[in-house]
Amino acid sequence: MKKIIVFASGGGSNFEALCNAAEAGKFNAKIVLLVASKNGIGAIEKAKKHNIPVYIYDENTVAEVKKYSPDLIALAGYLQKIPDQILDICPVINIHPALLPKFGGKGMYGHHVHEAVLKAGEQFSGPTVHYVNEHYDEGAIIKQTRVPVLAGDTPQTLAARVLEAEHKLLPECVKQILDK
Ligand code: GRF
Repeated sequence: MKKIIVFASGGGSNFEALCNAAEAGKFNAKIVLLVASKNGIGAIEKAKKHNIPVYIYDENTVAEVKKYSPDLIALAGYLQKIPDQILDICPVINIHPALLPKFGGKGMYGHHVHEAVLKAGEQFSGPTVHYVNEHYDEGAIIKQTRVPVLAGDTPQTLAARVLEAEHKLLPECVKQILDK
């Protein structure tokens, strides 16, 4: 069975969507480790619930990740830059809450993304899953889902609609990559 490592910095709802998909046999892989950006984040509780070991990011993260020989690394709401050595281990994918190449790059994370989408008057938004390279949000796009921007949307209501789509898209992309 293939091995996936997930990196997360926040509540971990995308991480949990991957745990649920793995447990339901939606792809033939096991999540072997959660790398959390720091102690106390919500994703850690979710890892405990799903019996997945947790490693808190430190200077030995690259060595720790290598021990598992992962087939795929998924950044699921991971906000820090990952070291380039991680990119040499296996394919690394990221989920971004907007339709790249628009609304990506420096400063475009969390509510900033949805604010920018609303300000630009876009009719659609939605998550993008892409390969990670050394430039933020610029790796090849794997797949996107379009969701409508509705009249009266706030950054919060739009974020919630996009997040729901993220939870479907990320497991789908993991399956697509692992099946290759
Ligand atoms: C998601 O919108 C993700 O796209 C973004 O951060 C949010 C993380 O949510 N990069 P969660 O931690 O997976 O709940």
